[in-house]
Amino acid sequence: MKYSIKTLSVATLLTLVGTAATAQTAIHVAKTRGCGCCVAWVDHLSEAGFLPAGENVGGALIRLKMDRGIPVSMFSCHTATVDGYTIEGHVPAADINRLLEQRPDAIGLAVPGMPIGSPGMDFGDGADAYDVFLVNKDGSTEVFSSYPAN
Ligand code: CU
Ligand code: CU
Repeated sequence: MKYSIKTLSVATLLTLVGTAATAQTAIHVAKTRGCGCCVAWVDHLSEAGFLPAGENVGGALIRLKMDRGIPVSMFSCHTATVDGYTIEGHVPAADINRLLEQRPDAIGLAVPGMPIGSPGMDFGDGADAYDVFLVNKDGSTEVFSSYPAN
């Protein structure tokens, strides 16, 4: 009995190691120089198993957002690209993972503005309630997930 439990745990461990190794999804983050919350969001992605690469693009950032079809009402401080999708703002890694699993026919995800308590904006006490939006190809948006205030 002891032997089989040990075998099971080794198998579980190998599965976990395998999952971590395949979770290294590259993500490109376009941001502006000196944006601290952008860097904090990049750190959040790293901790969640992504391989982020940041690039400072200055004034070209707004044009990038518009070229990607992100509605102005969804604008935030950085614009990322992962596996063909655009990620605008402080979107939690868990939502990016769900997007990549479900692969909807859409532009990507957005968290407009910079809500306190979202990843990279999670300094100090308390958090504002905020929604993650799915941005459709026709420019419409729908709530993808919601996070409560605390
Ligand atoms: Cu920000
Ligand atoms: Cu940012």
